Amino acid sequence: MKRVAVIPGDGIGPEVIREAVSTIERARDLFGFEIGLEHFDWGAEKYLATGITMPEGALEILSAEYDAILTGAFGDPRVPDNKHAKDILLGMRSGLDLYINLRPIKLIDERLCPLKGRRVEDVDFVVFRENTEGMYVFMGGNFKKGTADEVATQEEINTRQGVERIITAAFEYARKHSRKRVTMSDKSNVLTYGHDLWQRTFKTVAARYPDIEANHFYIDVLAMWMVLDPGRFDVIVTCNLFGDIITDLGAGLQGGLGMAASGNIHPGRVSLFEPVHGSAPTVAGKNVANPIAAILTAAMMLDYIGFTEAAEKIESAVEDSVRAGDTTQDIGGTLSTTEAGEAIRARLSAGELR
Ligand code: IPM
Ligand code: MN
Repeated sequence: MKRVAVIPGDGIGPEVIREAVSTIERARDLFGFEIGLEHFDWGAEKYLATGITMPEGALEILSAEYDAILTGAFGDPRVPDNKHAKDILLGMRSGLDLYINLRPIKLIDERLCPLKGRRVEDVDFVVFRENTEGMYVFMGGNFKKGTADEVATQEEINTRQGVERIITAAFEYARKHSRKRVTMSDKSNVLTYGHDLWQRTFKTVAARYPDIEANHFYIDVLAMWMVLDPGRFDVIVTCNLFGDIITDLGAGLQGGLGMAASGNIHPGRVSLFEPVHGSAPTVAGKNVANPIAAILTAAMMLDYIGFTEAAEKIESAVEDSVRAGDTTQDIGGTLSTTEAGEAIRARLSAGELR
């Protein structure tokens, strides 16, 4: 029996996670795997009512008692500094040492790609975003804050171990999934200390994988090639901030944030799965949010905890629904969030999937 902590969060989080959970339950009934889903109410509402973002000892409980965590989104206009999102989401990423942020960029239907003439096979790669250091360490400060002489610093941290483990994870993934190329992206022409470490580490690790092609683009050039010729990418590995930026660009190539799934992973440990999108407060509660990112995220999670067949069938059901146009409005359909989720579950139940 696998145990999953479900944290729907804020905004559209609860709506899309409801669809993801129903889809997991449908798959469980169909394929007969054992899974326990337990809900946690962490988010803006609880923070505003109690001042608590994450209860004391929560990380220890998650890592000792759960196999995976499924979250919706965090962010609420009533918490302008986003303290709860920082504590909960970034707190789990760093506190559970989830050093891989794995974000697949996969086009399901060419109709959804904003690029001219691109077919589904042209947009099919994965991003390995470093997830525990870089610009996300909150080191820095202010001097003379609020005065005309104000100084603000924000430090980027790159450690040899941190860089080596994310690059190694990218090569291991390439080998396991028969991807032929790993592309590392940095800004070492300007960040001559921090990203020079990426350069040197990448060469060392790449030499251990002679069967896999290794290449490099500066991040600005990579952004251009993602648009001009996304087909040249298989696996991209990059630092935390650049990974954040290019995965929104990648989501755009797939049809928008409603389509993009992600996993925050430390192999062998409890790992956290979340759609790439945010809480979208302006559309929350209207039953219009696209549940696909959350459902594909749930599939990634099922695969991670060992229910691979169910994961593949859910992905196929999503692909069929998208191709048939049984989707929410953001990707051209007319369905509500719940109807779009049900369209996917109906295909799962019908069982005629590849
Ligand atoms: C993401 C988000 C987060 C990030 C925010 C909400 C802190 O944009 O998961 O990509 O910057 O990592
Ligand atoms: Mn982001």
